[in-house]
Parts: sequence; structure tokens; C-alpha cells
Amino acid sequence: GNDMSDISTSDDDDHDEEEENSEVNKTAATSECKETSPACEEVKEEVNQEQQQTQKKETEESISNEVTTTSSQPAVFIPVDRSPKMQAARLKLPVLAEEQIIMEAVRENHCVIICGETGSGKTTQVPQFLYEAGYASGTGIIGITEPRRVAAVSMSHRVAKEMNLSTRVVSYQIRYEGNVTDETKIKFMTDGVLLKEIQKDFLLQRYSAIIIDEAHERSVYTDILIGLLSRIVPLRNKKGLPMKLLVMSATLRVEDFTDNQKLFKTPPPIVKVDARQFPVTIHFNKRTPLDDYTGEAFHKTCKIHRMLPSGGILVFLTGQAEVHSLCRRLRKAFPFRKGDTIAADGEEDDNSEAVKRFKRAKQKKSVSLPRIDLDNYSAQPVDEGDEDREAGIAEDEGSDLDIGDDPDDTDVKGDPSIPMYVLPLYSLLAPEQQAKVFRPPPPGTRLCVVATNVAETSLTIPGIKYVVDCGRVKKRFYDRVTGVSSFKVTWTSQAAANQRAGRAGRTEPGHCYRLYSSAVFGDFSPFSEAEITRRPVDDLVLQMKDLNIEKVVNFPFPTPPSTEALVAAEQLLVSLGALKEPPRLGSVKEMERARLSCPITPLGRAMASFPVAPRYAKMLALGRQQECLPYVIAVVAAMTVRELFEDLNRPAGSEDESSKLSHRRARMVQMRRLWAGQGPSLLLGDIMVMLGAVGACEFAGCTPKFCEENGLRYKAMVEVRRLRSQLTNAVNSVCPDMGVFVNPKMSPPTAHQVVCLRQITLAGLGDHLARRIQAEELLDPKWKDAYKTPLMDDPVFIHPSSPLFKTLPEFVVYQEIMETTKMYMKGVSAVEAEWVPQLLPQYCHLDPPLESPAPWFCTSTGGIRCHRSSTFFRVAWQLPAVEME
Ligand code: CDP
Ligand code: MG
Repeated sequence: GNDMSDISTSDDDDHDEEEENSEVNKTAATSECKETSPACEEVKEEVNQEQQQTQKKETEESISNEVTTTSSQPAVFIPVDRSPKMQAARLKLPVLAEEQIIMEAVRENHCVIICGETGSGKTTQVPQFLYEAGYASGTGIIGITEPRRVAAVSMSHRVAKEMNLSTRVVSYQIRYEGNVTDETKIKFMTDGVLLKEIQKDFLLQRYSAIIIDEAHERSVYTDILIGLLSRIVPLRNKKGLPMKLLVMSATLRVEDFTDNQKLFKTPPPIVKVDARQFPVTIHFNKRTPLDDYTGEAFHKTCKIHRMLPSGGILVFLTGQAEVHSLCRRLRKAFPFRKGDTIAADGEEDDNSEAVKRFKRAKQKKSVSLPRIDLDNYSAQPVDEGDEDREAGIAEDEGSDLDIGDDPDDTDVKGDPSIPMYVLPLYSLLAPEQQAKVFRPPPPGTRLCVVATNVAETSLTIPGIKYVVDCGRVKKRFYDRVTGVSSFKVTWTSQAAANQRAGRAGRTEPGHCYRLYSSAVFGDFSPFSEAEITRRPVDDLVLQMKDLNIEKVVNFPFPTPPSTEALVAAEQLLVSLGALKEPPRLGSVKEMERARLSCPITPLGRAMASFPVAPRYAKMLALGRQQECLPYVIAVVAAMTVRELFEDLNRPAGSEDESSKLSHRRARMVQMRRLWAGQGPSLLLGDIMVMLGAVGACEFAGCTPKFCEENGLRYKAMVEVRRLRSQLTNAVNSVCPDMGVFVNPKMSPPTAHQVVCLRQITLAGLGDHLARRIQAEELLDPKWKDAYKTPLMDDPVFIHPSSPLFKTLPEFVVYQEIMETTKMYMKGVSAVEAEWVPQLLPQYCHLDPPLESPAPWFCTSTGGIRCHRSSTFFRVAWQLPAVEME
């Protein structure tokens, strides 16, 4: 999703800052038309209408799909000079056989759906069909959206090569990176990038055709784009600015788009591409390993390599760390090149001794503290989402070449005489690395690609004959009650498992080894749900409000999110000040309705322009004050990258390693203490540690050696550096007056700045406020030093590695709650009670209203109550609810 918190770390990736700058500035320059286009108003007006009205109006307004005029038919044929070799390879693709039918359907309809098995050539060929038919010959260009960055970049390169055109003509744009020029005719981009462009030009006048690729993945942005385009396309055509919409899916399950009166009045035609698919023999495991499926995948892969004839192996695991760990093991077992190993990813740091030496910091209440002003914010750039997702079809069963289950065969030793060419593949892998999977492996080696579900449908790897499927997928889960969001590995769907198996039958009959039993497969859900139904939608609601779509409930979603999810999102946004709270007036029904159509505030607009989740966006928007911006950028970057610190508590393999680890743990304790600073900076807590780590790492040149020595994950730090430069450019493009330095080095914040940073953190993470449990609330001795949060009954704790572990401030905010041995708050920072009514007025019921900053003290009879003489406020335990008469 848009949420950058789901960005894990990426491999080292050369970053072209100049290019990035120019792209961002370009977007900023066109951002003015946002609220002025009357056409855009017209469509929003339509979306904003009450449902009955919309239905009535639909009969008059043309949401009909059929083309009535001929103006949209380009007459030209644009020749493409392909190499004979390329041309021959193209002709083998099933989609080529359907070119006539596809182009006829496109000429006769505004919207066409194309279904075709992965590898049939949709992504690489359909843009070329449109190009040759002249859809990019005028001023308009052809746009293709992909849910994944990897696909956008790699497909643009591939199509440029096939068409023998430069990347100035066939280009890509992903978050801040791209090679789009004035000459660009075909533009690959992530779905998030196009969504942002709609915010700038609602009619997408730059495009003559839009292709929504991988629609079966049902990524949130893809769904929203289809909803928006179902309105934009007819409007464009009505205005005599012809535009085509092509929706491409790898499965035939497209009813959500076709049988959806809210979306298309007349269902768009579906063109099916019959792909050649060779039979794939499925081999189930007799047993299903519960934990160590990576180990099981290792054994199975080794066995295939030793026992079965030549042919590439594709292994499906769930995440980047697993992928690297299996790659390392396989390279060791079947060495290809010396020293060709990749370090494992560390997990979490959990060092309890670490903290024993922290001194209790004095909580000083100074009268002359600097104050962050909620009305002082800055705004605006580009955005996109990415994450490994899933999909599905294809099946076959049988059982020859069954190499059986062998989880106990512990010493599988490869025959080192046949080297294995092992390559990782996942969504955040650098494009150069990722491109390797398309090249033939070195002669005399066997290709083995270890991938996440990115290889399921977006990318087709040539020459795969064997698939090893762990049957799992990593998904983001979100607890709506507690707001705790986490990545969990779960069983995939039957459709996705079949899609994975299908990868083995692209060029000849193949085999799929499932590391689970057929009974387990039978329990898989048949299809994967649309992402929109299982994730928080606060970022989407904010984006849609920024498009002036106030009544988000009426939006033509292919699959609408639940009303509760929409209510939760509006409430979070109201509490963050991004939306205006509806007046508590009128009947219960009227109030209910008002609650689902809160208008956006100027702060909300500012927040919508930052490519991060709303909480972090608010921090960035407020960060301009007291010259805090470089620090806020660093903090937000560090918070959105998972696991900056290496897991030094991992079990050691040998005694030697064990002593090394304990040595490094001691060093880590020292460094954390150093980074936490002294005096006032201690109260910034874990946020200060992150800031210190980022600062120190930059001063040391961000080298692998420095990270290794100081317990930091090198890849995470490289990602932080990259995000900092992206966010800095974003802020600069919005407010050139800010002049934030791109210079990565920063000196530590002053004491005043630390106070501001604490306030900014409170303003952004305010719904994650926790208060220390008071003596009279101690129901259980184990609750000593515990904290209460508004949304959970269970107490939560400060982690021993936090500088605030001993300080135990009265109020803290936290980044997230992680459940390990206890419920621990992560990313904790101390806040002062008196800041709460100022910075989170939406959370407080004030009686009488508060005029000026006042000293507060707290009592504790239910909820957080703070009062002083006659003024009284209550920090709502629950998000503010409508008061009933
Ligand atoms: O989109 P769809 O899954 O239908 O197919 P595609 O991505 O257009 O791929 C068509 C063919 O091009 C596949 O056989 C890929 O292996 C091949 N291809 C390639 O060789 N190199 C690339 N960089 C991309 C695709
Ligand atoms: Mg494709």
C-alpha cells in the first residue's frame, strides 16, 4: 500500500538524484490545477451524489461503454523496426494471435478487458499493439500501470528493447524514480503514480490510452483506479478527448469489474487469450512442515538438482530474508562462484542488559519550552504502493518423477560438479539484479530462482521446469481494534498455488513440488480476497478526499471496503486533524451520514501530498518548524524501514560465534546509550536512538563495516538514506522556501529542537498515546511499570532496550505494539500531558474550552483525566464518538 511502513529493506540500489529531482519538480509544477478544473468537479460531483440520484442520472449521463462516434479511431499505422530475432520470439506469444480481436474491441469500446494466462504476452505486447495502431501518434501517450515497481521498471526496458526504441520513448516512473522524457510515448508506472497524477489532472489529458495491468491482483490502488477511470473515460469521450481503458487480468475471475452496475453500465467485452500451457505434474508432500519450510525447500531443491534432468528450478518463499537465507544455503551446497554469498538479514534487537546502565532522566518541566503550532505546515509530491501480492489459475495432477518427502535427510550434499546458478527475486530487489533472471544461466549450470510471490504472475522467468512451493504467503494483517499492524505468514489460496504450479509448464511439461499435503491444500481458500477488504484504508480515504470525493461510501469500488473500515479511517483522519469533524447535530441518521463524509482540512491536503501513511505525513507537514525538518525526515525514514538494528540475540551457531555475539551485544548497548544522548534528548527515547544511529552512520559514510561494528543492518541503513533523499526532494519540491539540505549529514538536534521533535511525534502518533498505570490501578503486581493505551485492555510495556525503560514517563507515544514475551511498545517517546489538548484537540473533550497553554496534572479515575481548577479535559479512551441525544 501507500503506507511506506511496509517498505522493508532493499538491496543496494544506485540512485539517480538528478533524475529524481527533475521528476518531482515536474509534478509540483502541474499541481496547481487540482481544484480548478471544471471537468474534474463534474465527475466528483457525480461520485458525491447520493446513490439513488446517481442511478437516475446514469440513464442520461453516458457511462455506456459503446463508442458512438468515430473520432477516437486513430487512422495511422506506426511501423516498428524490430530485430528479426525479436519478431520471431514475439510471434510465439499467444497474445499475438489475438491482436486483431483485441484491437477491434478497443476501437469499438471505451473499455476492454483482456484475460490471459501469465506469460501469454499481455504486458509486453498490448502496449505495442496500441502504439502500432497509432494511439501514441498524437499528443496523447499510452500509460500502463503495474502494482509492483519491479514490473514497471523491467517491463519498460523489455518493451523498449523489443521495439528497438530508446528508454526516452518507452519509459517508466516509479515513486521518485523514472526516465520519462518529452519524447515518451509508452509509460510504465506503478498504480500509485497514476493515482497521484489523477489528483493533478483529473482528466488525465496526457494519455490517449490507459492499461491497468495485473487487475486480478486486486491491489487497492488498482481497484481505485478502475473505479475512477470508469468515470473519467466516458467523460473524456463525451468531451471529444477520446481515451481508451484496457484492464488486463491473468485470471478469468473478472466479475467484480464486469457484473458491476455501479462501475460500468454496459459490461465491457472480455477478450480471452488462450495460452499454451504444458501439463504440470503436482507432487504433494505427505507431511506438512509447520515451521521450517525454508529448510524443507532447501532439501527438496537439492534433491531435484541431484536427481532430475536439466531445467530451471523456481522456489516460492514468503519474504526477502527467507529468500536470501535459502540462496546462501544453496550456493554453499552447489558452489558457483567463490564468495558469492549474501549476508543474512537480522531481525530485532532485544537486549535487556543493554539498558541497566541508563540513568533515570529527570523530567524537567520548563516554562519556556518551544511549541509546535498545528497551523504551521507545508505540503505536496508523488506516490505509489508496492508489496508482494498474490493471484491465480492453472491445474494438473499426476505422479511420475515423485522424489518423495525427505525432511529427515539432513545431510543432503550437492554434487559440486554441477554448479547451481542461484538468483534471488523479490519486489524491492534492485532492477539490475532482478534483470538477471531473464538471461540464460551460464553454460553448464542449472538456474535456480528463489522468489517471493512476485514470480507468481508479474514476471515470467524463462526455462523453469520445476517449481517448489512452500504454500505460504506473507501478508499484512491489521487489528482494527488495537491498530496493531503486522506482517504474518499464512497459507496462500488455491488459485495462487495453482498459478505458482503453472510457472513450471511454460516451455515444456514440468513438475511442481508442494511442501504441504493435499489435505492442507484442500483447506486453502479458493481465491485471494481483494486487498482493500483486509487492510486499513486511512491513506486511501485521505487520497480520495484530496480528490474532493467526500462521500467515499458512494465511490464505485470494484469491491467496496467494509463500512467499519471506512468509519475507522475517517475517525483516525479526524483525530489527526486531516478531516473536519462533522457537527454533532440533527438526527442519529444524519449524524451517521455526516460521519462518513467529513470534508478535508488544509492540513489534510498538506498531508495527502506526502508519500507516507497519514500519521507520518502529519509529522512531515509540521516538521518545518524550529528547523526540525531534516530530523523529522530522518525519523520518518527510519520509522518506515523495518528493523534498523541487527538481531544480536539470535541463537549462535558455534561457541566462537556466541562469544562474538556477546561482544557485539555489549558494543550495541554502548552505542545505543551514546545515540540516546544526554539530558533532554533522553526523553525523545527510541526516536532519539534512531536519529542518533542514522546521524552516526552518515558521518561514517554509511559503510557495511560501520554497520557491522555497530549492530546496524546495512541494507536498512542504505534504505533509510534513500528514503531521506526522496523525502527531502519531496519537501523541497513543495516548499522551495524551506531549502532543506540534501546533505545527509546532520548535527545532533538542540535541546529546543528535541522538545519540538517530541511534540511533532505526539501530533503524528497521537492515537498511540499511552499513560503509565497509577498505583491505585495496579490490579496485578505484574502491571508495575506498565502502561495503558486507549484501545487495549491489556497493559503494554516499555522495552528494556529503550532509553525510557528506567525513566518511565507519565505519558508516552509509541510507533507500534509488538507482541513478544510481553506486549512491548516500539519507538517510544515521552510526551508532556499539557501538550495533549494543544496538539490533539480532537482527542479531548474540553469543558470549558481551553484558551491558553496551562499547567496540568493528572488523576486517573478511568481514562486519562487531567484537570486544573475549573478547566477539565478528558482524553478520549475511544476515538471521539458522536454523542447521542
Ligand atoms: O504479461 P504476461 O504475463 O501475459 O506476459 P509478459 O510479461 O508480456 O511476458 C511475455 C514473455 O516475454 C514471457 O515469456 C517472458 O519470459 C518474456 N520476457 C522476457 O524474456 N524478458 C523480460 N524482461 C520480460 C518478459
Ligand atoms: Mg504481465
